[in-house]
Amino acid sequence: MASAPPPILTLSGISKSFPGVRALQGVDLDVLPGEVHCLLGQNGAGKSTLIKVVSGAHQPDAGEITWQGEHTVIGSPSAAMRLGIATIYQELDLIEHVSVTENVHLGNEKSKAGFVRRGAARAATADILARLGHPEISPDRIVSSLSAAGRQVVSMARALSHDAKLIIMDEPSAVLDPDEVNNLFRIVDNLTEAGVAIVYISHRLEEIRRIGDRVTVLKDGRAVARGLPADTTATRDIVSLMTGRDIEHPFPERPGPPPAAADATPVLHVEGLAREGEFAPLDLTVQAGEIVGLAGLVGSGRSEILETIYGARRPTAGRVLVGGRPLRPGNVTSAVRAGVGLAPEERKAQALFLLDSVTRNVTISSLPRFSRGGWLDRSGERKAAREHTRELSLRPDNPEARIRTLSGGNQQKAVLARWLLRDCKVLLLDEPTRGVDVGARAELYALIRRLADEGVAVLLVSSEIPEVLGLADRVLVVREGQVVHTAPAPELDEHRVLDLVMEGSPA
Ligand SMILES: Nc1ncnc2c1ncn2[C@@H]1O[C@H](COP(=O)(O)OP(=O)(O)OP(=O)(O)O)[C@@H](O)[C@H]1O
Ligand SMILES: [Mg+2]
Repeated sequence: MASAPPPILTLSGISKSFPGVRALQGVDLDVLPGEVHCLLGQNGAGKSTLIKVVSGAHQPDAGEITWQGEHTVIGSPSAAMRLGIATIYQELDLIEHVSVTENVHLGNEKSKAGFVRRGAARAATADILARLGHPEISPDRIVSSLSAAGRQVVSMARALSHDAKLIIMDEPSAVLDPDEVNNLFRIVDNLTEAGVAIVYISHRLEEIRRIGDRVTVLKDGRAVARGLPADTTATRDIVSLMTGRDIEHPFPERPGPPPAAADATPVLHVEGLAREGEFAPLDLTVQAGEIVGLAGLVGSGRSEILETIYGARRPTAGRVLVGGRPLRPGNVTSAVRAGVGLAPEERKAQALFLLDSVTRNVTISSLPRFSRGGWLDRSGERKAAREHTRELSLRPDNPEARIRTLSGGNQQKAVLARWLLRDCKVLLLDEPTRGVDVGARAELYALIRRLADEGVAVLLVSSEIPEVLGLADRVLVVREGQVVHTAPAPELDEHRVLDLVMEGSPA
């Protein structure tokens, strides 16, 4: 048998600090051609920083990079691209107001000149999109009009278009549904068979078990373990290495039989709510203390339903009542006044004030509470924010840190803390654990359950079916804008829900 090929990439002793944070401390890593090398670690462990060093977005303070046997300085993202390193970032970096084709071929010399080449670029883009299982995305589409998942696909298409030898994927599956994840894995298989190396970051351990050849675990900026993902005991070990503890059962116990009597006024009552072309007339109620989950594929209308309840989209029919009183349709202010909160799916575009501090991002929806005769009680503000960011173990534990400098999962925690602070009656959660590590997930689940126990009505959307089943009391399965099935969560299992979201046998 041939001996193992030499690594395509070797990192040795990579360190990187930001003001007040040692993000990476002497990390060694090697990546072999044709392997899927997974990076694991809690939120803020340094995964994105490490890959940004490889993709030329950050310069390391110390350490060496060897690419195809030669010491290399990767001075910029375009230098990385020229070397054959393509990256799909956690925060997508697409140019919003140009077409899919232009984004895909960005920085790719082949496509620069002329009309003929533009035609070729367009055809090549269509081809890659089809390979990715998305022939419906037109190469001419303006990127800003695409959904989160659509953008992810475009970002992936861009990485594929460069004939890269190494493709880095930072949580690519976070916005994909199970079918799309399978598709992604098929593509990864084809790439690795052709000798392309993949560095894959995900918080979903089952994915790593499925496609990972080797795993490196980062903790507090150091590589603390390496191994094979194959057997589950190793996976369990990996979790405790990452988190420093065992997590046996992530979901909190349900309080028993469904809360509130059937004749009590539900906190949230949705009556025949519809948006033409998005979702069919929908009826649902959520009682105080209840967590209702919407399960369905990306693009099945779940986010649109939440946004319409919140008033960010105007319904074409039906109405929403909170505590028996109707909200003004398509009016966010009316919803917020009535005590409705929405933690949206796309936190960067919709929810974060990137230049502001963690504190302000948490308190922004509750500011009146901190105003004292026209002045803002800043210490009260900070104290209140901190209480909730600590509950979620948000890192770094620095109320003044700019939210932009936080790791992806920690930004998500800040958005959630905002709604914890706001004393909502109805909480609409759209993919609340996206990008959140396994340890913090368990804490987050406990918190959501505690809010419900305190009387909040929670409506939850998640692409991760086990999450919906584990956390919700009742589950509505949505397919193509229609509720095809409703059942108490304990009566469902993952296969049944998958069958329902794929085939949809109306019930
Ligand atoms: N530009 C920056 N300025 C200051 N601190 C930063 C910056 N970028 C990252 N950090 C800090 O570096 C540490 C590592 O962050 P990184 O984004 O690499 O984590 P991660 O492992 O990717 O986490 P996640 O799973 O949440 O995405 C964190 O403490 C983060 O706050
Ligand atoms: Mg990250």
